[in-house]
Amino acid sequence: MSNVTYMNHPLIKHKITMMRKESTGTNEFRSLVEEVAMLMGYEALSDIDTRDVEIKTPIEDTVQPVIDGKKMAIVPILRAGLGMVSGMLALVPTAKVGHIGMYRNEETHQPVPYYCKLPSFIEERLVVVVDPMLATGGSLIDAVDEIKARGGKNIKCMCIIAAPEGIEAFTEKHPDVHLYIGALDRCLNENAYICPGLGDAGDRIFGTK
Ligand code: PRP
Ligand code: URA
Repeated sequence: MSNVTYMNHPLIKHKITMMRKESTGTNEFRSLVEEVAMLMGYEALSDIDTRDVEIKTPIEDTVQPVIDGKKMAIVPILRAGLGMVSGMLALVPTAKVGHIGMYRNEETHQPVPYYCKLPSFIEERLVVVVDPMLATGGSLIDAVDEIKARGGKNIKCMCIIAAPEGIEAFTEKHPDVHLYIGALDRCLNENAYICPGLGDAGDRIFGTK
């Protein structure tokens, strides 16, 4: 599990607690997802490359570092991952955005893929996959399989809440991919929902049931 980073910041912990509360409504939930994604993104992007550029301050010419946001692809897993995109784009507005559509079969809990559109030259980009929930791990494993099959090599994943079962399954299948986790929960229940979790992330972001 060496390729897993658990967030330890009180602001992230506080916001995830607010997300968990049943009484938190759609509007507030959506804002919290965006804010947590931004805070987690700050950590997940702490090792990205910079290059030096020449600029002019009001005082003098100087050489200073910049990131190359165009070399990044943010890839939400639909639907719930969409809620994390705006937080990431607040950090890197020039990033490209791909989409992977996948939902869990309610009986088998297996992911059912229905859409994939990634930015071109995916093999040259840092790909950051975002999905609030890592439960069995099936959806994230399949999403990363798909990205690798299309050439992706440099991949990170950010999940707000994870179950130990999902972490174990994912790290076994994709040991080369760094996982960033907001909170590690206790276990899955008989419906493969995370306990204590926050319920169905997609429903809570979009106000569906
Ligand atoms: C949720 C969540 C993940 C998946 C996690 O999506 O956003 O994609 O479940 O579960 P897993 O680790 O067991 O695969 P869901 O299937 O509810 O689809 P939705 O986002 O469209 O609601
Ligand atoms: N998907 C969710 O949205 N929540 C869970 O607890 C598990 C999977």
